[in-house]
Amino acid sequence: MEGVMAIGKSSYALSSSSSIRLSLPTTTVSATTNHRHLAAFQSPAHLFSNSSLSYRMINTTKKNKTAHIFLPHLIASMEVEESYIMIKPDGVQRGLVGEIITRFEKKGFKLKGLKLFQCPKDLAEEHYKDLSSKPFFPKLIGYITSGPVVCMAWEGVGVVASARKLIGATNPLQAEPGTIRGDLAIQTGRNVVHGSDSPENGKREIALWFKEGELANWEPVQTPWLIE
Ligand code: RTP
Ligand code: MG
Repeated sequence: MEGVMAIGKSSYALSSSSSIRLSLPTTTVSATTNHRHLAAFQSPAHLFSNSSLSYRMINTTKKNKTAHIFLPHLIASMEVEESYIMIKPDGVQRGLVGEIITRFEKKGFKLKGLKLFQCPKDLAEEHYKDLSSKPFFPKLIGYITSGPVVCMAWEGVGVVASARKLIGATNPLQAEPGTIRGDLAIQTGRNVVHGSDSPENGKREIALWFKEGELANWEPVQTPWLIE
C-alpha cells in the first residue's frame, strides 16, 4: 500500500519497502536511504530495550544526563485482566479525580473497587518495594502518603497495558498529549496517577489495597456493546 503526503507543491510517497519518492514539480528524486535523517521516519529501534520490565523509562545517556525514552512495548493482551489504578495525592488535591476516572470509564473498562484512602507509610513501602533501592524512594513514599489517594480496581480485556497507555509516560513532559500525564501533569514527582505494570502486579496490588468485601462483582449493561 502506498501513502502520499502533500507538502506545499511537493509530495512524499511511502511504500512498505520504506523507500521515499519525493515528487517535485519538475522531477522525481529517489531518497531510499536519506529518509533516516528525517525525524518523522526514525527507526523504531529506540523504542525497545532488552529489559524484562514491560513499560519503563530508561536513561539513554551516559554521565547521568536525564534524557529518558518511553518504551510503549507492553502489548495489550486479549485476556480479561485487573489493574490497580491510583490517583495520587496531587491528583486529589488538584481536583482531578472525576477527570481521571472518566478516562477509564469512557474507554469501557469495568470499575470493581473505588475508595478515598489515606495511605500509611508501610503500605506505600510495600506497594513500591521494587523501587526501595532507588535514591528517590524516600521522596516517593513521602509523596504517596502526603494526602488521600483514590484507589481503584479496574477490570477488562487488556486493561493493564491499555491503562498504561491512557496514563502515559512516567515523566509527564515526555507523555503524549491525550494521555492523563501528558495532559494534566509536569513533573515525574507529581505525575498524578499510578497504574499496574503487569497483570501479576495488577492482582498483587488490588489484593494489597482492597480488603475482602470492598470489590463488587457486577455486569455492566453496556458489555454487549463493547465486546462482540
Ligand atoms: P507508577 O508505578 O506510579 O504508575 O509509575 P511508573 O510505573 O510510570 O514509574 P515507576 O518507575 O514505577 O516509578 C514509580 C513512581 O516513582 C516516582 N519516580 N520518581 N524522581 C525520580 O526520578 C522518580 N522516578 C520515579 C514517580 O511518581 C513514579 O510514578
Ligand atoms: Mg510503576
